[in-house]
Amino acid sequence: MTAPETMMRRIADPAARPDPYPLYEELRRTPVARQDDGVYTVSTYWEIRSLLNDPRVSSQTRPPLVPTPSGARSMLRLDPAEHDRVRRIVTRPFGPPHTPRRVFEMRRGMADTVRGLLDAFADKDQADIVDDFAYPFPISVICRLFGVPVEDEPRFHLWTESLLGAADFGAEHKPDPHLLDPDAAKIEMGGYLAELFDKHRKDPGDDMFSALAVDDGPDGRLTPPEQVATGFLLLIAGHETTVNLITNGVLTLLRHPQELKRLKDDPDLAVPMIEELLRYEPPVQYLPNRRTMDAVEVAGTVIPKDTDVNLMLAAGNRDPRRFPDADRFVPDRGDVEHLGFGNGVHYCFGAPLARLETRIALTEFARRVKGPELVADPPPYRVNPVLRGPRHLPVAYRGVRS
Ligand code: HEM
Repeated sequence: MTAPETMMRRIADPAARPDPYPLYEELRRTPVARQDDGVYTVSTYWEIRSLLNDPRVSSQTRPPLVPTPSGARSMLRLDPAEHDRVRRIVTRPFGPPHTPRRVFEMRRGMADTVRGLLDAFADKDQADIVDDFAYPFPISVICRLFGVPVEDEPRFHLWTESLLGAADFGAEHKPDPHLLDPDAAKIEMGGYLAELFDKHRKDPGDDMFSALAVDDGPDGRLTPPEQVATGFLLLIAGHETTVNLITNGVLTLLRHPQELKRLKDDPDLAVPMIEELLRYEPPVQYLPNRRTMDAVEVAGTVIPKDTDVNLMLAAGNRDPRRFPDADRFVPDRGDVEHLGFGNGVHYCFGAPLARLETRIALTEFARRVKGPELVADPPPYRVNPVLRGPRHLPVAYRGVRS
C-alpha cells in the first residue's frame, strides 16, 4: 500500500483523472491524514461535513488560487461576518428574498438555447458534447444573467482557462502553450471586468452586474474592487462547474443506457438523478482552500492550529459508511445528501441555476438524440484535478427527434 503522504500528488497526476475513485478509497482508510508537506486531507463524509460547518476552519486565511489584481477577496475566500455581508449583497439580484423569480424566469430562454444546440446535431452523426452542447449552453446563460456581452466569451474563456490551468495543485504537467501567462490573464480580466462594471454603472440593464454596480440594499454596495473580485468568482464558478456536470451527466448516462432510457420515458427522473450525479461524479472534487484557526479534533485526530486542510468532497460522496453501494450510480436512491455543492456558509450560491440548466440539458438530450453511443471511453480529461471533467466527449448517434 502506498503511504498516504504521496496521495495528493497521485490524485493530481493527470493519469488519475479518468478514474480517481480507487485513490479516494485508499485515502478514506485514513479519514484524517497528514501529507508530507504538512497539509491534512479529510476524506470521509461526516468528518468533511463537520469541518465545512466548523467556524474554526477558515476560508480566508489562505491565498486565493486565483488572486484578483486589487487583492480584494470574493465571498469564497472570506469568513463570516464579512462573507455574509458580501453574499447578501450578491444574492439581492439573484434569489430570494429580493429576487425570488430570477432563475425560474430564465427557464424558457434556457430551453430555447438547448433546442437550438440540439437542432444543430441533426446535420451530422457525431458531436462533441463539450464543445457543441455542455459548454455553449451555460455560457450563454451566464452572459445573459450577468450582463456580459456574449461576443466577449472567447476572451474570458481564455482568461479563466489560463488562470485555472496555472493553479498549482501539485500536478506535474507542462503548461498548455495556447494559454496566457497567468499574471497577464489576471490583469487583462481584471481590467475587462472593471470596465464592464463602469459601463453598467453609467447605463444599467436588468442583469446582475448592473444591479451590483448601482443597487443600494440594506448592506450598501460592494466597492469597485469587490465588484471585480465577485465578477472573477461568478464567471469562473458559473461556467466551468456546470459544463462538467452536464458532460459528466451525459457520460454517466451513456455508460448506463438503461438509465438513459428511463430518463427519456420519465423526464421527472431528472430531479433525483442530478442529485445522484452530484454525488457520483461531482464537478468540484475537493476544496483545497481551508486552514485551521485553532487546533481541531476530528475522528480522533488533532489537526494543529494554522494547518492547511483539503476537504475531499468526492471521497466523502463515495463513503460506504454514509451511502450503501456508494460506487454504484443509483438515480433514484432516496437518501442522497451529497457534498457536491459543499455545505455550511459557503454552500454553492449558484445551485438552483446549475440544477435547472442540467435538468433541461439532460432531459432534452435523452428525449431528442437517437441511439447515442460513446466514441471513446474514457474520454480525454482536462488537467485540473479540482474542477474535474472531460475535455471532449465525442458521441455518435442516429439522428435527432424534433
Ligand atoms: C454543477 C455546478 C456547480 C457546482 C458543482 C458547484 C459547486 C460549488 C461548491 C462545492 C462550492 C463550495 C466552495 C467552498 O465551500 O469553498 C460552491 C460555492 C460557490 N458557487 Fe458553485 N457550483 C456550481 C455552479 C455554480 C454556478 C452556476 C454559480 C454562479 C451562478 C456558482 C457560484 C458559486 C459561488 C459564488 C460560490 C461561493 C459561495 C460562498 O462562498 O458563499 N456555482 N460551488
